[in-house]
Amino acid sequence: MTFGRTGLALSADGVSLSYGGFQVLRRISLRIEPGRITGIVGPNGAGKSSLFNVLAGSVAPDAGAVRLGERDITRLPMHQRARGGIARTFQLARELDSLTVLENLLLAWPDNPGESLWRIFTDRRAIRNAEHAALDRALALLERTRLLRLADAPAGSLSGGQKKLLELCRALMLEAPIILLDEPAAGVNPALMEELAAFIGELRDEGRTFAIVEHNMDLIAALCDTVYVLADGAVLTEGSFAEVTADQRVQDAYLGVTL
Ligand SMILES: Nc1ncnc2c1ncn2[C@@H]1O[C@H](COP(=O)(O)OP(=O)(O)OP(=O)(O)O)[C@@H](O)[C@H]1O
Ligand SMILES: [Mg+2]
Repeated sequence: MTFGRTGLALSADGVSLSYGGFQVLRRISLRIEPGRITGIVGPNGAGKSSLFNVLAGSVAPDAGAVRLGERDITRLPMHQRARGGIARTFQLARELDSLTVLENLLLAWPDNPGESLWRIFTDRRAIRNAEHAALDRALALLERTRLLRLADAPAGSLSGGQKKLLELCRALMLEAPIILLDEPAAGVNPALMEELAAFIGELRDEGRTFAIVEHNMDLIAALCDTVYVLADGAVLTEGSFAEVTADQRVQDAYLGVTL
């Protein structure tokens, strides 16, 4: 199944989620508009990563719906959403340290030959024989992110920032139109941050859709068309970066004042 590059919005409609009686998400509604970059910010523990889990399909909400365009995808499993066009990165990069940078990307290819992990270790040829298309795409991404010279280095030897770039490249291997980035700038040095921001901006201009969870407000200010502020599992406000940062409730939330 494929959603294609149809430019659909990904939206949450009244999504709630609890863990053992503790409510993590409270009737969250938001729209990730196609071809735009939507920022999701909020203090630690506000529920940002949990919201991504629900949008990407790794966690089912207790209530509410996730929609792609008009289609209700709340019960669609994560791998089908990923194949169908919704990719994500994780707050803690999930590369396989002992594999090379290039191998990590080839593994992210949807039709990679080593989908069951054991094959990577028992049949290295499976990776060597990966489709040319996957190889071309991986090399192009590495070139674009200036990681090409590290293609054969073990992923475990990368810096924190380089791992974040690799994580983004892994998501881009899917050619997904919608990409959810969980703290892409964490641990990234300022020089690399500018490159990362420029890269994400270019991808948006090429028509990709992004949602970015981030504590780095420079990145949010530079990139986001719309920003949602989460606090205590609920949407506090939504608007342009200038609008939300001028909001007293947002300033209070960041100071830890009870709302
Ligand atoms: N699997 C889980 N089981 C129980 N509680 C969880 C689980 N995952 C998250 N939580 C709790 O849900 C709340 C929201 O967590 P979440 O990781 O979504 O926040 P966040 O906004 O991403 O925070 P941060 O900015 O620190 O990454 C926190 O109180 C967290 O402890
Ligand atoms: Mg988080």
